Amino acid sequence: MIAKRALALLGLLGTVSAGFCKNRTFWLCGDSTMAPGGGHNHTEGWGQYLQYSLDPHLRVNNSAYAGRSARTFTREGRFQAIMDKITPGDWVLIQFGHNDPGDPFNDPKNRTDCPGMGSETCPVQTDDGVEVVQTFVTYLQNATAEFLRLGARVIIASPTPNNPYEFGPTFNWTPTIYSWYSWYVASSMGGPAAGVYYVDHAGYAAQAVHNLGPESADANYPMDHTHLSPAYADLFARAFALGLKCGTAPAQQYVVNATSRIEGDVLGTCLPVNATLPI
Ligand SMILES: *[C@@H]1O[C@H](CO)[C@@H](O)[C@H](O)[C@H]1NC(C)=O
Ligand SMILES: *[C@@H]1O[C@H](CO)[C@@H](O)[C@H](O)[C@H]1NC(C)=O
Ligand SMILES: *[C@@H]1O[C@H](CO)[C@@H](O)[C@H](O)[C@H]1NC(C)=O
Ligand SMILES: *[C@@H]1O[C@H](CO)[C@@H](O)[C@H](O)[C@H]1NC(C)=O
Ligand SMILES: *[C@@H]1O[C@H](CO)[C@@H](O)[C@H](O)[C@H]1NC(C)=O
Ligand SMILES: *[C@@H]1O[C@H](CO)[C@@H](O)[C@H](O)[C@H]1NC(C)=O
Ligand SMILES: *[C@@H]1O[C@H](CO)[C@@H](O)[C@H](O)[C@H]1NC(C)=O
Repeated sequence: MIAKRALALLGLLGTVSAGFCKNRTFWLCGDSTMAPGGGHNHTEGWGQYLQYSLDPHLRVNNSAYAGRSARTFTREGRFQAIMDKITPGDWVLIQFGHNDPGDPFNDPKNRTDCPGMGSETCPVQTDDGVEVVQTFVTYLQNATAEFLRLGARVIIASPTPNNPYEFGPTFNWTPTIYSWYSWYVASSMGGPAAGVYYVDHAGYAAQAVHNLGPESADANYPMDHTHLSPAYADLFARAFALGLKCGTAPAQQYVVNATSRIEGDVLGTCLPVNATLPI
């Protein structure tokens, strides 16, 4: 009797904890496409739905913030706020690219990165002196290096796709340069061997939107070609979970859904990869 109860209890614990002995945090860094409240006006960020696909032992902290770029997330201390709280074993997801393009010397929002993929700098005059603006790649490499030093592992994700049906009923989407920059960051930081992974969220989300078609897309990019309805925010979170499962990042062990249950008519299947991609 007692032995039976003990066994039942052990079984229960096994199911509930799924073998995770410590609680971890999954820190999300991004813009309005990921943030709580999205871009406002009843849009939502996909980071708000990620927890539903994850075991509660990996708790999502959605620190994404509308309007931010790699530059302003750094300048405003938003990476630093996470660095102050992070503990070894945590995971960080970094996804930018919507608010990063433009001319840093002519940008009323002061958020555009310096063009280039390396150590290029753009010294911009501000009211408080000169801000030495760096490239998207440098900001992400800098944040990644610090997260690794603090014992965390990092996933760099390509930015969410804009509405591929914006101009008509034919699917029209290609990755932006930020997809390439994002995998370059993961690769240049040492890739999976160094604890840095790439999830092609752009590709996975675009695949789902393609499968759902133009009417669905037009209804679920309700405000403009970037921001998502709550339904698409949830869809994009599930597309991220598929991308995570299709890669090698050990964080995939926290995904509660079997790959065979995620793949299908809506989300599609794992995307083809080559040896260049640090997934
Ligand atoms: C969002 O809603 C506010 C208030 O209703 C409105 O003034 C604004 O134009 C809307 N913005 C967009 C981008 O739709
Ligand atoms: C760890 O997370 C689980 C699931 O959310 C929760 O039940 C438990 O109280 C947490 N443990 C600690 C030590 O925070
Ligand atoms: C997420 O982390 C930030 C930075 O530590 C913190 O200010 C915020 O309260 C956290 N959010 C939640 C929902 O725990
Ligand atoms: C590197 O990151 C830290 C923390 O976010 C930040 O304080 C510092 O300004 C960054 N350096 C560069 C060159 O971006
Ligand atoms: C951008 O920087 C300029 C020069 O410092 C400043 O006048 C302006 O208020 C800033 N704009 C924002 C949105 O921070
Ligand atoms: C995984 O299953 C949960 C319900 O158990 C659901 O809320 C979530 O959307 C699913 N995620 C995926 C990627 O299918
Ligand atoms: C590998 O895939 C990426 C992304 O699709 C592509 O940009 C790159 O050119 C490919 N590399 C090779 C060697 O095929």
